[in-house]
Amino acid sequence: MACGLALTLLAAVQARETAPKPAYKDASRPIEERVEDLLARMTLEEKVLQLNQYTLGRNDNVNNMADPVGDIPSEIGSLIYFGTSPELRNSLQHRAVEESRLGIPILFAFDVIHGFRTVYPIPLAQACSWNPALVEQAARMAARETRMTGIEWTFSPMIDVARDGRWGRISEGYGEDPYAHAVFCASTVAGYQGDDLSDTGRIAACLKHFAGYGASEAGRDYVYTEISRQSLWDTYLTPYEAGIRAGAATVMSCFNNISGTPGSADHYLLTEVLKERWGHQGFVVSDWGAIQQLRAQGVAADCEQAALKAFNAGLDMDMMNRCYDAHLADLVRAGKVSGERLDDAVRRVLRLKFRLGLFENPYTPESREEERFLRPESLRIAEELAGETMVLLKNDGGILPLREVRKIAVIGPMAKSRFHLLGAWAAHGNGEDVESIFMGLEREFGERAQLSYAVGCEFDGDDASGFAEAVRVASESDVVVLCLGEKANWSGENASRSTLSLPAIQERLACEVARCGKPVVLLLTSGRPLELCRLEPLSDAILQVWQPGVRGGYPAAGILSGRINPSGRLSVTFPYATGQVPIYYGRRPSARPHQGKYQDIPSEPLYEFGHGLSYTTFEYGDLQAPSTTLRRGEKLRVEIQVSNTGACDGAETVFWFVSDPVCRIARPAKELRHFEKRMLRSGQSGLFVFEIDPERDLSFVDGEGNRFLEPGDYYVQVKDKRLKLTLVE
Ligand code: NOJ
Repeated sequence: MACGLALTLLAAVQARETAPKPAYKDASRPIEERVEDLLARMTLEEKVLQLNQYTLGRNDNVNNMADPVGDIPSEIGSLIYFGTSPELRNSLQHRAVEESRLGIPILFAFDVIHGFRTVYPIPLAQACSWNPALVEQAARMAARETRMTGIEWTFSPMIDVARDGRWGRISEGYGEDPYAHAVFCASTVAGYQGDDLSDTGRIAACLKHFAGYGASEAGRDYVYTEISRQSLWDTYLTPYEAGIRAGAATVMSCFNNISGTPGSADHYLLTEVLKERWGHQGFVVSDWGAIQQLRAQGVAADCEQAALKAFNAGLDMDMMNRCYDAHLADLVRAGKVSGERLDDAVRRVLRLKFRLGLFENPYTPESREEERFLRPESLRIAEELAGETMVLLKNDGGILPLREVRKIAVIGPMAKSRFHLLGAWAAHGNGEDVESIFMGLEREFGERAQLSYAVGCEFDGDDASGFAEAVRVASESDVVVLCLGEKANWSGENASRSTLSLPAIQERLACEVARCGKPVVLLLTSGRPLELCRLEPLSDAILQVWQPGVRGGYPAAGILSGRINPSGRLSVTFPYATGQVPIYYGRRPSARPHQGKYQDIPSEPLYEFGHGLSYTTFEYGDLQAPSTTLRRGEKLRVEIQVSNTGACDGAETVFWFVSDPVCRIARPAKELRHFEKRMLRSGQSGLFVFEIDPERDLSFVDGEGNRFLEPGDYYVQVKDKRLKLTLVE
């Protein structure tokens, strides 16, 4: 009997070994063929499970909680993995590959927004570097740490244009400008994905939150957004189109309701624009709980209806809604969802799994943390990028760099803080990895200056008992370095604030310290542009440090000492006061430019987009072009000579704007269309060039998404230099 059974088993094994390999398991076949083969073998239930994402591991994200799914089916499409080691992940993968009928590997995902364990500056700051190549390198290093941990897919970059700093998620994007978003989106996608997703140092990107989330009313999270089709196309969709062109593997739909239609149920955006018009071949994942939230948003009566609306709108994967797993199969059986639509969604998910090489290499090699995290090369890039993101907002009387100081008073709640330098969405960042500003100053100044320290006050509250000590320390110093700012969780998701000013206690500390009469250098750490109208007059110099990540202390100190010449320029306008918000450079012209001012405050921002000082001076020549007439299909090379006329080397970013004074659709007064950052040694001149391609650089888009180019006059502008160009038919 036993012998008979053994023979039967042996025969089965032999049969499996000699049976032809199914086409989908054959790596030599084209991906599309493998996808079709696998799809043809799947049951309805197996297909539906591929369209669901659950979680694995301990979730510390307070804004996105749900009961963990106790019994994760081996056929699940994707898991958000909260762990930091490959082991747990591999054990789940083992179940999927070995125990499910078809052995389809799971796709593991996580929010890697500005680094995994090595945390880089927040994206809003990254854009202030105007150095897309360096941003790409940071993304590349983040991808490596992520993939080596067993995660193949990140929910990043966030490319939501944001013009209201009250919205906490402004920290996650690249500022107020659509073009800047498009450029940094493309470099981040390139850094994550490279040109081969099966490379074990690469991960798939996800453009989010499609679309218009940054327009959240009054800076509140999750709320209504009122976006005309015109501004949808000319402002909010621009970065997404660039991201799709850059090959981003996936897209996440937004939470917000756009002029009556929530983004997660928006057929126009998800299907007509993204998939049909732009040809996106990847899939769309919902945001966390966004499908079931269609009920709260007033467009679905229950989860079944929510699933139907979202799925038929083009939303392919359900992130922790428990709507698709509960209802999609029934909706297909009832004929409310077509088999074609179902297959299309599954195809998109499978395609990515094949591209990532998961069928061939489902398991992540187990490695020690030291092999993966905080590698010297990652830390070097983190430090270099942090140095390039910091913006010198003010430097009265050339107080900086600090050359002859002997005694430096370091004051404020941010001076010794480590954790808060990480910012929001710091993934697996750890405060203990961070170099504080105080540590950076110690490293920088060493024996050259004596540092004294007083915290002065906490980040908020009304305890002024530390003021006296702060004043004493300030009085005994040559200069005060005052370190104020925001806690890490004051920005990010669900972190709206009614004002852009720092809490009153911090402003009061600045007043007390300034009264000592010592020069005050203000270092600001924040995840948003701040209201500085009261702090600015109290400070001789202001350095915007942002939330620089693990290696911000030393570069900040290097800027103070002059070892680093600051080169950051603002990617977002700093208003004079919160009441000006939304305020941004690319406004459409007013009917009465000299009127319509505020009665009680200035109408101009305190620091405009692109602002940032250097320790050297740059002189700009005039704009030069071989002709001022252009034709469609012909390019025109416009040049400007920039000279470093100061005593030290420095990097300058040249911003090229265009404007179209008369158009059938009123356009922004000026639009950024090109920028270039370059190092110029003291005394050196460089020629900066913008090769204008009229179709690309002078055209505009209408509310239907049609790009058009009108003959007539245009201006190209660099600083205060303008050149009139005429486009003839
Ligand atoms: C909600 C956030 O809006 C989104 O950006 C994030 O990727 C998901 N939660 C997953 O954590």
